[in-house]
Amino acid sequence: MADKTYAVKRLLLSRAMADGTTMKAAVCQRYGPPEVVKIADVARPSVGDRDVLVRVRATTVTAGDWRLRSGNVPRGFKLILRLGFGIRRPRQPILGSELAGVVEEVGPAVRRFKPGDKVFALCGAKMGGHAQFVSIGEDAAIAHMPPNVSFEEAAALSLAGATALWFLRDKAKVKAGERVLINGASGGVGSAAVQIAKHDGAHVTAVCSSTNAGWVKALGAERVIDYTKEDFAKAQDRYDIIMDTVGNAPFRRCKPALSPGGRFLLVVNTLAELLGALVRPRRGTRRLIGGVAPERAEHLLALRELVESGAFRPHIERVFPFERIVDAYAVVDSGRKKGNVVVTL
Ligand SMILES: NC(=O)c1ccc[n+]([C@@H]2O[C@H](COP(=O)([O-])OP(=O)(O)OC[C@H]3O[C@@H](n4cnc5c(N)ncnc54)[C@H](OP(=O)(O)O)[C@@H]3O)[C@@H](O)[C@H]2O)c1
Repeated sequence: MADKTYAVKRLLLSRAMADGTTMKAAVCQRYGPPEVVKIADVARPSVGDRDVLVRVRATTVTAGDWRLRSGNVPRGFKLILRLGFGIRRPRQPILGSELAGVVEEVGPAVRRFKPGDKVFALCGAKMGGHAQFVSIGEDAAIAHMPPNVSFEEAAALSLAGATALWFLRDKAKVKAGERVLINGASGGVGSAAVQIAKHDGAHVTAVCSSTNAGWVKALGAERVIDYTKEDFAKAQDRYDIIMDTVGNAPFRRCKPALSPGGRFLLVVNTLAELLGALVRPRRGTRRLIGGVAPERAEHLLALRELVESGAFRPHIERVFPFERIVDAYAVVDSGRKKGNVVVTL
């Protein structure tokens, strides 16, 4: 089956080469370290009636790309990953789940976008963002870029931002005055969550290393806990919402730090935790919420509004040229990235 897929891909590539419709892409040839990713010529994606072809100007390497490339997934998901994404190598070898760029071409039925528009988008499970061109349905998670950001910032806007929005607003229904603790506050999702929770009127406590404490305070955290010195789960303070973006704070351990009526947000969940959250979401008066944030245009529109009003700005730790995407992966693999790592094309 896999060989057949590769044969079809080779055929498409030779046709594309003959037509002059190839593009450069970062291709993940097998699961493994950053070096398994190579820049190669592949066929440009086709444009359906309702599709928008985007010339990518910037994309990101996310923790999700690292997980897919390396096969390093939370406990219980290894087999599911291989069954879903490919047994021996990723079935979709071009990773990359968010991007910003310029519309190159639109299908005949597209109404909301035209060539030349600046857009940002989430590719979702289809991935494919680490390439010169991406084809996205007009009704999928794609929106016009806010006017006050660069392509680099727009590329880093959607995945972490949409994840923070989905967990905090859609699922936990965060309210003004609530106490929110973000574990992993200096990461991509964490730094977006600090800004959005603060904007929504919450009192934010951030958990990160002391190196990032000043920066996370400037984003809106009222208090910072250095995880090397203090365990928030053992302190006396209580929170209405605890968001774990690291995966080292199981509900069982953190329960005493959650107020009655509190919500525990598992951004990183093991299979057992995810099933537990689905089967038994209520634990006493406390609620356990897990899952994967969906790709929705409405989240992109909400993020655009937040950016335009100055309430949210994605932080970019480093920008790499496309040819150095392997170096970008190395930063993400460290598990210590500050905000986002961007790749420009
Ligand atoms: N469920 C979903 O829908 C969804 C969506 C997107 C991402 N995710 C997952 O969410 C996770 C976070 O993604 P991300 O992009 O935010 O990750 P990230 O940017 O790679 O997170 C790195 C940050 O984690 C912090 N950190 C490391 N160890 C820590 C510890 N023991 N305690 C507190 N903070 C610690 C680091 O802070 P210091 O340098 O200060 O130590 C660093 O700033 C990933 O596992 C990703 O797969 C889930």
